[in-house]
Amino acid sequence: MAARGNFSSRIGFIAAAAGSAVGLGNIWGFPYEAGAGGGAIFVLVYLFFCFALFFPVMLTELAIGRKSGRNAVGAFEALGHKKWNFIGKLGVLSGVLILSFYNVIAGWAFGYTFEMAAGNFEVTEHFRAYTTNIFAVGSYGLLFMIATAYIVSKGVSEGIEKAAKVLMPSLIIMMFSLIIYSLFLPNAMAGIKFFLLPDFSKLTSTVVFNAMGQAFFSLSLGMGTFITYGSYIKKNDNLIGSAALITLTDVGIAITAGLMIFPLIGFISGGSLSGVGRGPELIFVTLPHIFGEIGPTAGAIVGMVFFLLLCFAALTSTVSLLEVPVSYVVDEFKLSRKKAAWMMSGIVYLIGIPSLMGNGYSSYFSEFITYIGADQPTDFLSFIVNIANDSFLPLGGALMVFFAVHIWKKENMEAEIAAGFENYENSWIRKYLRFVMPVLLPGTLFIIFSMIVLSTFFGF
Ligand code: PHE
Repeated sequence: MAARGNFSSRIGFIAAAAGSAVGLGNIWGFPYEAGAGGGAIFVLVYLFFCFALFFPVMLTELAIGRKSGRNAVGAFEALGHKKWNFIGKLGVLSGVLILSFYNVIAGWAFGYTFEMAAGNFEVTEHFRAYTTNIFAVGSYGLLFMIATAYIVSKGVSEGIEKAAKVLMPSLIIMMFSLIIYSLFLPNAMAGIKFFLLPDFSKLTSTVVFNAMGQAFFSLSLGMGTFITYGSYIKKNDNLIGSAALITLTDVGIAITAGLMIFPLIGFISGGSLSGVGRGPELIFVTLPHIFGEIGPTAGAIVGMVFFLLLCFAALTSTVSLLEVPVSYVVDEFKLSRKKAAWMMSGIVYLIGIPSLMGNGYSSYFSEFITYIGADQPTDFLSFIVNIANDSFLPLGGALMVFFAVHIWKKENMEAEIAAGFENYENSWIRKYLRFVMPVLLPGTLFIIFSMIVLSTFFGF
């Protein structure tokens, strides 16, 4: 087999893996979910799921990846359980589907960078018209996909790692500059309070459910991202330490995004936080409007920096989404990495076209399907989100954890974790993993999966 490539340093691997986790989910999804879901209480539930439950899923993926040294599908065969590689195939399919719509949204953000730079804040009033203009936004999406394919085609250390090492620090610097700016706006503190002081009366099952889904997606779990990235790391790396760093970075950036955005909402609402769109329209409608209010020059700069950092965050995620299928094709079908990256991204771009058209351009894809018991049709992009993010990821996660503990066997997984972690035998983390992994964790994920399928598609 040709050399598969490796991360050249631990910090490079962490940057790439954290880059995968940090994406639209953190900077767009998290603030809007928190805004819609009661603020700080959502944040608390989110933190609980990240650390208590989903952290072991990441560890599982990393252990499978490093031990096998193969892609998300081949890994199961390399561990001697080829029959179970359907889990990896589900992951590859999820990656392809997620990338197909994720790239559409990234294309919107990319286009917004230029709109803001040009001081065109009105685009926000006409967001629908903007997404309907599929030739313009489709071209931005195409450029974004080309950038993704280019990075992946360059390989693990020369492409993915190098890009992450530049993009991630730039992202962090841009975010902190914007936080400092937004904290000095009038009524910034009202926004911060809403975001950080929990109101327990707002804790509902919907909040718990959304926080759970948000956490899982945000950590890039359930589709083999970390099996794939884990296959490129060294035997003596400390997997627990790495998973902890990746989770901390992901959570840290999500909170940072909230600290950047909620002061702006405090500012625009005069401190009341009411009357401000905090749903999915937050990023593409509310924020640009706020940038316009800040003033023509400052608003253009702040707006441009904001959307540029959103693009940077998205790019390290699209790279990881593409790497999962590319690594599969390279390992299993012996295609060159270059060919695999360009071919796969072309296919994914085509699969994304209905998502592109389903936001106003084509009424067929905009009102694609009406689920049982629903009174509104769902557009194609949301349909793919419901299938891939909401259903496949928790199902994939449940299957992976079940596989690791009961088929591959927990002793084998523990041996893999212990390599690079002194004293694992006597650690509390080992006890904790033995407690949650056999039943509780896969059970919870499977219940989430079933409940989502029943409630989304069948109206229960
Ligand atoms: N975690 C990324 C985000 O928050 C999305 C992602 C999901 C990337 C699954 C890879 C795999 O935007």
